[in-house]
Amino acid sequence: MTREQGTGNREQRSAGRVMLVGMAAVVLIAGCRQDMHNQPKLIPQRGSEMFADHRGARPQVVNTVARGQLHEDSYFYTGVVQGANGYREERNEMPFPVTMDVLKRGEERFNIYCTPCHSRVGNGEGAIVDRGYKQAGNLHDQVRRSQPLSHYFYVMTHGYGAMPDYSAQLTPVDRWAVAAYIRALQLSQAATMQDVPAGVQVKELKDIASAKGLPVGFAQPWTLPLTAMQAYPADAKQGTPGMAPAYPADPAIKIPVTK
Ligand code: HEC
Repeated sequence: MTREQGTGNREQRSAGRVMLVGMAAVVLIAGCRQDMHNQPKLIPQRGSEMFADHRGARPQVVNTVARGQLHEDSYFYTGVVQGANGYREERNEMPFPVTMDVLKRGEERFNIYCTPCHSRVGNGEGAIVDRGYKQAGNLHDQVRRSQPLSHYFYVMTHGYGAMPDYSAQLTPVDRWAVAAYIRALQLSQAATMQDVPAGVQVKELKDIASAKGLPVGFAQPWTLPLTAMQAYPADAKQGTPGMAPAYPADPAIKIPVTK
């Protein structure tokens, strides 16, 4: 007996296969229910018949606070408290104790986020200011020194004049750490002999420099090389509009005039 004779011819067999596949598909599709797909639900950015105002995106429920977002301690989160006269009131105090770790964290964050404009010592002459950005506040002048601690927090939270805010980069606890570090910086530039603990010997910077084999000038302000902005001001007389006045250009450098 040949294979052809036993199980019918080629066409019959392939038709049988098609039927089998078809039946399997019918069984599969019948088992697939659309309940999940067709259930009433909200689709993002689309209206909904479910609510009277037909808005799919629901507004927050009035007088409720989402879990974990109850910012009860207003001073910690905003740096201000409601004053007696209804105005916001700043305070010269930290909302939590300052430890060495807090100051170190503040120093690290300050060096990352504030030095580009305020410089590492906080005198407002950072690299960006050097290249024409508006003069940043000098944290050591009398005005800045006498500002309450929470003012720094407020400035970091909301920005100030030409300064952008840093609320996205710095969490509230980090903003307070930076504020505390600003006070440490201020002390570093204005410490008096009374601030030195008894029994601690004070050495001159230049003595330390020479003891370490550094040039004496190391302890004095450094003369930095001119930046491109200073060497090639857009307009030697007026500077670039909206930017800090141009520094006197180095006469040794010849600026090509194109007019
Ligand atoms: C992009 C540059 C820039 C950066 C970065 C910057 N500042 Fe400033 N800051 C300024 C400028 C410019 C001013 C002066 C604003 C003005 O007068 O318009 C200023 C002013 C201030 C003042 C003085 C506010 C007052 O009431 O006089 C404080 C305090 C201050 N900045 C803190 C900070 C701290 C803290 C950081 C880091 C988190 C920081 N700034 C980062 C540019 C900057």
